[in-house]
Amino acid sequence: MSRHVRWLTLLSLLAIPAMLLAACAPSIWPARATPAQAGAGGTAATDKLEMFSWWTAGSEATGLNALYEQYKKAYPSVEIVNATVAGGAGTSAKTVLSDRLLGGDPPDAFQLHAGLEIEKYDPAKYVQTLDTLYASEGWAKVFPKDLISLLKYQEHFWGVPVNIQRANVMWYNKDVFGKNGLKPPTTWDEFFQVAETLKAKGIVPLVIGTQEGWEAGHTFETILVSVLGAEGYKGLWNGKTQWTDPKVTQALETYKKVMTYANTDYSALSWSDAAQYLVDGKGAMHIMGDWTDGWFTSQGFKGYGWAPVPGSQGVFDALSDSFAAATGAKNQANLESWLKLAGSKAGQEAFNTKKGSICARTDCDPKLFSAYLQSAMQDLSRDAIVPSVAHGAAAVERWATVYKDILNTFATKGDVAVTQTALQQACVDNGVCK
Ligand code: GAL
Repeated sequence: MSRHVRWLTLLSLLAIPAMLLAACAPSIWPARATPAQAGAGGTAATDKLEMFSWWTAGSEATGLNALYEQYKKAYPSVEIVNATVAGGAGTSAKTVLSDRLLGGDPPDAFQLHAGLEIEKYDPAKYVQTLDTLYASEGWAKVFPKDLISLLKYQEHFWGVPVNIQRANVMWYNKDVFGKNGLKPPTTWDEFFQVAETLKAKGIVPLVIGTQEGWEAGHTFETILVSVLGAEGYKGLWNGKTQWTDPKVTQALETYKKVMTYANTDYSALSWSDAAQYLVDGKGAMHIMGDWTDGWFTSQGFKGYGWAPVPGSQGVFDALSDSFAAATGAKNQANLESWLKLAGSKAGQEAFNTKKGSICARTDCDPKLFSAYLQSAMQDLSRDAIVPSVAHGAAAVERWATVYKDILNTFATKGDVAVTQTALQQACVDNGVCK
């Protein structure tokens, strides 16, 4: 089945919350015209472009720079203001962005996850719709159909997708596994056996960093996918699966046991600090998104392998980064040319090969990509696709934030019953569970 069709699974999930939110939309919606909708004719030339993201280091910054270089070649007189706020998954950046939009000081373009994350920014007031640009660029034909629909919120396009990424990857140090005669575990039982062997050798079996507040939620969503399967996991976000389900208990118990094999300094580390354990041969496995492929490469580390998180074979836990346009952007013409580049084949090939992600476009040349990314392209074309909650696709931001906070506390306290009750309550509070 094609990539176009596989994203449909996300749509069926998102339909219910999107409809609920649409019902709450302000009455001016959707008749409001924006500068981008008004067309390119009325925009005056300026000499700046401010682009806001959380890509500050390693391969993430390198990928963004590759796109900047292309832009500078095409528009040498435009100075790019690289506005960044560090922190994986945009935990800090999203708050700063929200303040800037509300405070009337918007950047021109900003990073936005495809999916329900857009709701956070009150788009009717603060974000331009990109419908005209989608039509003039013919993007309906080059992005997977179901990704296109995921990008639509209240019937409009708000962001240009630059990539597709996968959350449920288990990275491992090949040398450590080889020397100890181990194979990457395919089930949690195998994981615990492998972990015991590694522990006995003084190697940290699973490395994790929870410093930025989203990583525990990221790890747990992959365990939910593994224990509940694609349909059960999707149901958690549309009310078909209750959080009181015994399988959620099982997932929490599994996660709790997994954490007994983790590095003890996890709360002081970011995801890339944790990945450094693998580079140094002191840690064996790390559950993290496929930006880790780009990060390892940027560190010159080649000794890594990858496998789906145990039990999540055949499921692609997906997210997509896009660039959106702020209402009231000071550099409208430059903003539009930036978005066009971000959506182009040349732009996406330059960006994703460095960033460690696959193109949102379906016509990029696979030969330009690393072995891992080529494997991700294949998986995307055949796996069941589910939306990531830690990265903006599955739930509105206020629910995703509560979810992440609950899991962060769980990583330290480990109270299964309290955590499960809190997760169900968060679902109720967001109008999805009863
Ligand atoms: C995600 C984002 C990825 C990567 C990751 C870690 O939310 O979509 O592109 O930046 O955070 O920082």
